[in-house]
Amino acid sequence: MNQQLDTLERDSFAGQDRFEDVAARSLARRDVLRHGTGVVLAGLFGPILCGTSPSQAARQRTQLATGFSSLTASTADTVRVPPGYQVQVVFAWGDPIDGIGPAFLQDGSNSAADQARQAGMHHDGGHFFSLPDWKAGSSTSGLWAVNHEYVDPSLLIGSAARWGSAEGVAKSKAAHGVSVVELARDRRGRWALVKNSRHARRITADSEIDIGGPARGDPRLRTPADPDGVRVQGTVGNCAAGFTPWGTYLTCEENFGGVFGSDDPAFRPTADQRRYGLSARGAGSEGSPLYPWWKQDPRFDLAREPNEPNRFGYVVEIDPHDPGRRPVKRTAMGRFKHENCEWLQTKDGRLAFYMGCDEANEYLYKFVTDGKFNPKRREANRDLLDHGTLHVAKFNDDGSGVWLELLPGRNGLTGEHGWTGLADIAIRTRQAADRAGATMMDRPEWVAVNRRTNEVFVTLTNNARRGATPASANAVDGSSAGGTARPPTDRVNPRANNVYGHIVRWTDDAGDAASRTFRWNVFVLAGDPEQDDPAKQGSMNGDAFGCPDGLWIDDTGTLWIQTDVSPSRLATSRPGSPDPDFARLGNNQMLMADPATGRIRRFLTGPVQCEVTGAHMTPDRTTMFVNIQHPGEAGVDRDLSGAPTRFSSWPDGAAAGRPRSATIAITRLDGGTIGS
Ligand code: FEO
Ligand code: CA
Ligand code: CA
Ligand code: CA
Repeated sequence: MNQQLDTLERDSFAGQDRFEDVAARSLARRDVLRHGTGVVLAGLFGPILCGTSPSQAARQRTQLATGFSSLTASTADTVRVPPGYQVQVVFAWGDPIDGIGPAFLQDGSNSAADQARQAGMHHDGGHFFSLPDWKAGSSTSGLWAVNHEYVDPSLLIGSAARWGSAEGVAKSKAAHGVSVVELARDRRGRWALVKNSRHARRITADSEIDIGGPARGDPRLRTPADPDGVRVQGTVGNCAAGFTPWGTYLTCEENFGGVFGSDDPAFRPTADQRRYGLSARGAGSEGSPLYPWWKQDPRFDLAREPNEPNRFGYVVEIDPHDPGRRPVKRTAMGRFKHENCEWLQTKDGRLAFYMGCDEANEYLYKFVTDGKFNPKRREANRDLLDHGTLHVAKFNDDGSGVWLELLPGRNGLTGEHGWTGLADIAIRTRQAADRAGATMMDRPEWVAVNRRTNEVFVTLTNNARRGATPASANAVDGSSAGGTARPPTDRVNPRANNVYGHIVRWTDDAGDAASRTFRWNVFVLAGDPEQDDPAKQGSMNGDAFGCPDGLWIDDTGTLWIQTDVSPSRLATSRPGSPDPDFARLGNNQMLMADPATGRIRRFLTGPVQCEVTGAHMTPDRTTMFVNIQHPGEAGVDRDLSGAPTRFSSWPDGAAAGRPRSATIAITRLDGGTIGS
């Protein structure tokens, strides 16, 4: 072990409480509350390291205690923040991106053309880019880039007849994608869209996007509309996001399969299509709505255009500072159901991007660029993301881990097993990871990095699909979708039925993000301390929560955790008979965690049936932007067979009616920094 590794381990992992100690504290808390008999929680999960040093904990707890008062859980149809903070809605679905028009119509009657000039639906990842240029650090003027992940038909269209129509499909396409808008803060501290900004831009499912990286031009990416396989129309399933140090936005395509299908009775998806969840009915992954685009646009008909889905499922790079520049799909970063991506710099100046594939029993990836980041000349980084090495994570039960290279000839990716080269791996990334023998995870959602300590965290939101089928039996032919695998538990995914999810952290060895080995532990098991089942109580040192999804680390090293309990399980969806697993946790929320102490405190509660996602701050940390996604989702009437129930009317209020996803700005009344 070299000196650097020794130091890193001391800083990041050594001196921490053993998991048993944390479990014992959790149990002690519960026993005080419930007078129950102790069950050794640690016995369920084995000696996973978790928590942190008590001396650090005492110090940090004092610091956090001065910042804000922890909120109680809430079922109110509003955004709550601690005393001394305020919330402003700055960019909601339907708001015109140029700040002028066309105006949002509450009855859903805006046309597709209107929608293409308005905020799309269901904000997810977002990033604030300071103006005037990529190196500037203004905290009162900047570009907000934000993803629009999917649509709810009953809110978007409001009529079954329109939904299946050409206009309905066109409006659905226009509500997907990305918005870039210019924001400015006035002297009173209020944020507003800058009118007529030259930067204001929508990228939709119809926008022209270049294809970069090893899959560019591959025969499997060629279609009649693009015989060279180099340019695709649109981006969909824009879930979470990332950015580059040269000031570009990375939008990540997740549940792209939902827009593809076929009415051809003879159509059967291939094994490769099944591995990505593609089917005749347009099914995406769990919970993904039905979008019958193939009924109006033949390029989404799998029987007619089998190659079109190979052009989705990538990280897409957008330059918010240059509205005339075409976005690029970076195929070298792999094709899967991308959640977000976050980077660390390697010791030799290259970049390592960490990425999760969000579906039950899918994998965690790392992409390391071949070239170095050039901080002086922006143009030199233009195609940095087209060349590099993709890896997938294998977690060992002893706390070590290996990044398996997904390269031709390595880890079983040989001609003997049917692999034809780098483009093949870029297009069939999930199958490559199967073959390499990666660890199947409990739905990897966001990854967050601490660029000072090189620590990386990932949320594993939940998983009900573990069983007795060894992973190796699922990892041989590339046809075993995460949805059919039933791998047994292991130390990094320790729960047989992971209702509440957990957060795992790791550090690549030798303090170098290029390293092919790492050390990991479980940061926290989410749960409800009031549960009788010890496996559901969690290991929180602080406020209870479930289903962590959004995750971000600010410049102080504070970890922000955002939750996405399925709206159908939230207490507000079942008045009178709430789901016992989530009855006490209230609406989805955002919590602040101290990675050094493990202390977790509730900072924000969202409106009814929303998801809270997409945190970022201005450089001076006086404004935090957060996205409120799909308020009132459980009332959505996906097949438009009846009148939707309106569980939420956030943010416009009951008189207006239609709930809207939106970006909010959180500031302090005294102008101070957030969370301090
Ligand atoms: Fe779009 Fe995995 O959340
Ligand atoms: Ca998510
Ligand atoms: Ca989620
Ligand atoms: Ca969601």
